[in-house]
Amino acid sequence: MSDIKRDVRNPLLFECAWEVANKVGGIYTVIKTKVPVTVSEYGDRYCLIGPLSYKTAPMEVEAQEPTDPHLAATLDNLRNAGVKFLYGRWLIEGRSLEPRRYSNSPNDHETNETIVFGYIVAWFLGEYVSRQLDKAVVAHFHEWQAGLAIPLCRKRHIDVTTVFTTHATLLGRYLCAGSVDFYNNLQYFDVDHEAGKRGIYHRYCIERSAAHCADVFTTVSHITAYESEHLLKRKPDGVLPNGLNVVKFQAMHEFQNLHSTAKAKINDFVRGHFYGHYDFDLDNTLYMFTAGRYEYRNKGVDMFIESLARLNYRLKKSGSKTTVVAFIIMPAATHSYTIDALKGQAVTKQLRDTVTEIQNRIGARVFEHAMSSNGEHGTLPTPDDLLSEEDKVLLKRRIFALKRNALPPVTTHNMADDANDPILNQIRRVQLFNSSADRVKVVFHPDFLNSNNPILGLDYEEFVRGCHLGVFPSYYEPWGYTPAECTVMGIPSVTTNLSGFGCFLQDLIERPQDEGCYIVDRRSQSVEDSVNQLTDYVFQFCQKTRRQRINQRNRVERLSPLLDWKNLGIEYSKARQLALRRAYPDAFYGTTEEEDFDFGMERMMPNSVPASPRFKMSGIATPGDIGTLTEEMQALGTSDYRGYQWPGGADDEDEGYPFPLV
Ligand code: UDP
Ligand code: G6P
Ligand code: GLC
Repeated sequence: MSDIKRDVRNPLLFECAWEVANKVGGIYTVIKTKVPVTVSEYGDRYCLIGPLSYKTAPMEVEAQEPTDPHLAATLDNLRNAGVKFLYGRWLIEGRSLEPRRYSNSPNDHETNETIVFGYIVAWFLGEYVSRQLDKAVVAHFHEWQAGLAIPLCRKRHIDVTTVFTTHATLLGRYLCAGSVDFYNNLQYFDVDHEAGKRGIYHRYCIERSAAHCADVFTTVSHITAYESEHLLKRKPDGVLPNGLNVVKFQAMHEFQNLHSTAKAKINDFVRGHFYGHYDFDLDNTLYMFTAGRYEYRNKGVDMFIESLARLNYRLKKSGSKTTVVAFIIMPAATHSYTIDALKGQAVTKQLRDTVTEIQNRIGARVFEHAMSSNGEHGTLPTPDDLLSEEDKVLLKRRIFALKRNALPPVTTHNMADDANDPILNQIRRVQLFNSSADRVKVVFHPDFLNSNNPILGLDYEEFVRGCHLGVFPSYYEPWGYTPAECTVMGIPSVTTNLSGFGCFLQDLIERPQDEGCYIVDRRSQSVEDSVNQLTDYVFQFCQKTRRQRINQRNRVERLSPLLDWKNLGIEYSKARQLALRRAYPDAFYGTTEEEDFDFGMERMMPNSVPASPRFKMSGIATPGDIGTLTEEMQALGTSDYRGYQWPGGADDEDEGYPFPLV
């Protein structure tokens, strides 16, 4: 690249993503949870770059002065040229720099922002490496929104080595959201035409050029690697599976207790939401949920609702006493909470407050009776002494306030477009209206959760812990953090073999369903069969005893080391190392691979892990070893990921959808 000899043993790392300190979806989770493991490798040589969001930055980032003089000089220069940024510490570990400059161009606002962002990042990197001449610089970019800097770095011959990680492809997401038989036709799409037809050709070009200009191109799962090869026309060099920060409790029962306390809070919500129709036993009620960005078909909400309708039918038919409350947590455009939803919580709270007051008064009366002597000693109160007439009137008033004629509402919010909302429309079609006879009740909460919310006041993590089963039957899901998060919290979940996470588990574990990770086959069977398989899973789940559920949670939780960044972070290290080798091959001349790849990272599956779950291949060291950046690939040139067997070719029938979509 240049004549300057940079130190490749102690490189600097800039990691750049639209979701750095800016939460949108799963990429935020990738970056944020990965910080500790990256900091442990890079220390102060690690800096994150994201777009400056004035709304969230003050909560996420604490301003600081840079200590690196080259960085300080570079930032001064940018500041003088009018770039607004905030440099500081992300309020986890690590540092973050968030530049933004505004442009006034019309039309595609998001792409305009992306372009401005890309130019500023490339400008920053160019300035920085012209000052800092000692160390090699790895610039790692995530997703197309951060990708434009890559072709700019290449065009300007900026002396950095680049890694591009895609977490989806634009075309994949768009094509799947329509009614296309995506996976059987991946090879045949006329990509330019399809992108043009959807008005995203300019975005597609940014994504494709980022993939092609990067020294190393990676993605998060094999399924997305396959998709990228066909839609972006570059075969990824490797797969970097997404990890999480796994917190191990001292004692096994601690996470079980968390389930209990979080469930009690959901119980409170349910009492309020179903007031007036609260005729089911919370001790025999199961909480199922799905959550994520509102992508009706891609996230498999269509399949979830259909299977709930079938579950309702089967539970009724079998005379089951179990009630299922199914939550759908997906942000949509709304005009705040409904009065009904707020009222439910309010009247329940009033009743609770009244009961507490009466309880205190009863206590006082019991005390008085016991204290006051009838000549010899105190007396026991009779039942009539306990409740005064006033108490009874007050209580009656509260009980009447709980009467309502309408059924408990499905949604907690006033929807901006109620009549055309795909989720509500499907619920209407399958008639899951929360009637008394229904064994499956539905609550659609069209917003992310937050402990400050007045009606479902729990953080997402707490909510997940309190539930019994997460259901994520995605059709398009490059990874899918939501079921992975369930797993590390010891909550069983359902996912599919079209999600990166589902495939990852299937690759590692013999029978994931025995471990509480159910995987619906959406690849080789018809949609009807997939819905039935999902219905069977949830129906069987409803047959479990409490003891069986507790055991299952223990089994699920035992899988968490598989998802720990302490084990998966090594794949990122390998990608960076490969990037350095590609950019500075001379610096690696004559060294052995052992020297190059000794990252001192903890290895997977310590001997203490019990024999069950059964792992598919003996001697697996890290999940990466089953087909990401292998030693072979690191030896330059070869790039491969394990190919999948895809069902059928041209002969396969397009199954279509047995239930209408919108
Ligand atoms: N999530 C959240 N609050 C919610 C629901 C979801 O913070 O109420 C988070 C969840 O924890 C997960 C992310 O949103 O980390 C979704 O990531 P995923 O990979 O499942 O999907 P993406 O949105 O990236 O397609
Ligand atoms: C945890 C708690 C138990 C509780 C159970 C309820 O395991 O430690 O005390 O009985 O949760 O489980 P369930 O699946 O019925 O919510
Ligand atoms: C994307 C994908 C999701 C993945 C996340 C993090 O947003 O939709 O499946 O989990 O990125 O990689």
